[in-house]
This record gives sequence, structure tokens and C-alpha cells, in this order.
Amino acid sequence: EPRVFSGVQPTGNLHLGNYLGAILKFVEMQKSFDCVYCVVDMHAITQPISVWGGPKELVRNTREVTAAFLAAGIDPTRHVVFNQSRVDQHAELAWVFNCVARIGWMNRMTQFKDKAGKDRENASLGLLAYPSLMAADILLYKATHVPVGEDQKQHLELTRDIAQKFNNDFAESIAEQGFGDAFFPLTEPLIQGPATRVMSLRDGTKKMSKSDPSDLSRINLTDDRDTIAQKLRKAKTDPEPLPSEVEGLAGRPEADNLVGIYAALSGRAAADVLGEFGGGQFSTFKSALTDLAVDKLGPIGGEMKRLVADPAHIDAVLAAGADRARAIAAPVMNAVKDILGFLR
Ligand code: TYM
Repeated sequence: EPRVFSGVQPTGNLHLGNYLGAILKFVEMQKSFDCVYCVVDMHAITQPISVWGGPKELVRNTREVTAAFLAAGIDPTRHVVFNQSRVDQHAELAWVFNCVARIGWMNRMTQFKDKAGKDRENASLGLLAYPSLMAADILLYKATHVPVGEDQKQHLELTRDIAQKFNNDFAESIAEQGFGDAFFPLTEPLIQGPATRVMSLRDGTKKMSKSDPSDLSRINLTDDRDTIAQKLRKAKTDPEPLPSEVEGLAGRPEADNLVGIYAALSGRAAADVLGEFGGGQFSTFKSALTDLAVDKLGPIGGEMKRLVADPAHIDAVLAAGADRARAIAAPVMNAVKDILGFLR
């Protein structure tokens, strides 16, 4: 049975990359799949406290990501929206996967290397095991499709490796328990469309990121019209006019990025966008992009602000979602315990 799972960390500054690479896809997938969308608070604490901001910030950011989900159009009555730490099975299955996965696999993860930086000895053990918890998130729901941005590709490949090794290591027991020849599915990553890797507005070779010290590098979902206009006006470009064909974007990362953003926000192909703006000046294109971005993001930002002003509603959505998540996760975790030989 197909099922979608994806997660977003509550680490502040939700931006256009998160929206186009992930949340917009979440909204689209609701039409054809049963979806489970998770605010991954347990992943947030893998980084230093100075990064995730401590308990009060975590509460605020968990509510803010939930508000973004709802404001973007995720329907929590038809799909499951919850925060990870509420469903104990995530931690339980992650432990099992810590014993299935190999240290070498974790050491190879580029996100770990980036986030740990030079002082690897001083990174949290949780940061190293991060992908194991992510595999648990996905496989607890036996999710078949996972919409994410390009930066999560390696983690999804690892999730398949973990599922495969579990299926192999315990093949006999899986069969004995009546689950046939594979217990966990091999999950498909869904990394599609023109904005799977939205780049910084200040440097077209760097990913747009929550942690970039320059707020001018990203468009936040809660930015108002003037801020969006100012950030796009200041966005780095090159001196050439826009090309008329997609091939002309090669070697022009900033132009490529802005055209990709326009395409994703408007639901048009990049070629089509260049058909309209190719040959013209960046200033004309940037003002059209500003109007489009304000048109698409303005209502979401406004609705987010309205929703976070009423935390009781958000908290009720998360509590109800967690109950429904647990109803799916608990039988899967129980089966894992039986497969492993954990008496219960
Ligand atoms: P996180 O919280 O860093 O980002 C949330 C989603 O946004 C995507 N994204 C981007 N897409 C395009 N361009 C960008 N510049 C950009 N920046 C971020 C991310 O790819 C992601 O889809 N490990 C995950 C959270 C997670 C998860 C999971 C995802 C935990 N468990 C299970 C899927 C399934 C993360 O750190 O995302």
C-alpha cells in the first residue's frame, strides 16, 4: 500500500527552499496518497543548543512549522500531522536501526560532515545517528514515497540500505512471523521539479539555508511584501540579460536559481518562463518575481501568523495527529519486537 511520509525540523527560519522543495509537494501529494507529515523535534536537538535555541524556542518553532503545514494547505483531518517526540516508537525503532546500521555508513553522510565541521569529536552522538532516526520515521509507517529536497537524497539511500539489511538479517524470523520475504519496503525518494535545490540569493553556489547568517540570503515564509521585494532586488545576478533558452542558464547559477524559483512558484516550465522573460533585463524579471512571490507566499505567511497566535488550536491538531500516528506505528513496532525476539 502506498503511503507518503516526510518531516521538517523545527529549527526556525522556514524559507522558500523548504516550501518549494518540500511543503508544496506535501500539499500536492495529499490528493493521491495517504500522508503522514511530521515536525521532527527529536532531530532538532541533535545540533548544539545554541543552534536550536533551547526549550522555549523549540516550542515556538514546533508550532510555527505546524502552522506552515496548515497555512500551506495540509489538511490535518484527512492526513496525519504530529510532532515526532510524542510517538515513542520513533526512538524505539531508531535504537534498533542503530544496531542494524554501521558506523561507516554514518561517517560517510555529507550532512554529518557539514554539520559536525572540523571538530567532529565534539559533535553529538545523536548527530551521527541522525539518519538512523530518519529511517525509523519513514519505516515506522512503511512509507513508500518520501518527498524531500535534493539535500536529503543520501539519507533516503541510507534508509533503503537499513531496510534491506534488516530484511536480510532477520529474513528467517520475518518469514516465521508471517511477513513473507520482506518486512520493510524500499522507499522511493521523490525529488522532482525545478526547485529541489533552491540556492542562496547571495551566492548561487550555496544552498538556501535556515542557518545562513545573512537573512538576505533567503526568503522566509513570514517575510512581508517589502522584505521580499528588497531581498529580490538585492539578489545577486550577473551582468548579462536573461537567456531565451534553458541551455543558456549553464554556468549562470544565480540566473538559473531565480528562473527555477519563478518556474516552481508559477507551476510553469523554465523554458516557458524564459520564453516570456528571455532577452530582458533582470530588473524587469525581478519585479515580476516579486509580485509572484508575494502573491503565493503572502497568504501563507499571513495565515501562519494568525495560527501561531492561537497555540491551543495547533496543540490540539498535534495531539490528535499523534494519536493517529501511534495507531499506525505501534503495530509495526510490535512486529519488529517479535521479529527481533524482544518479549512483550
Ligand atoms: P529540513 O528540516 O532541513 O528541511 C525540510 C525540507 O526542506 C528541504 N529543503 C530544501 N529544498 C530545496 N532547496 C533548499 N534550499 C532546501 N532546504 C531544505 C529539505 O530537503 C527537506 O525536505 N532530515 C530532514 C527532516 C527529516 C525527514 C525525515 C525528511 C527527518 N525525518 C523523514 C523526510 C523523511 C531535514 O533535516 O529537513
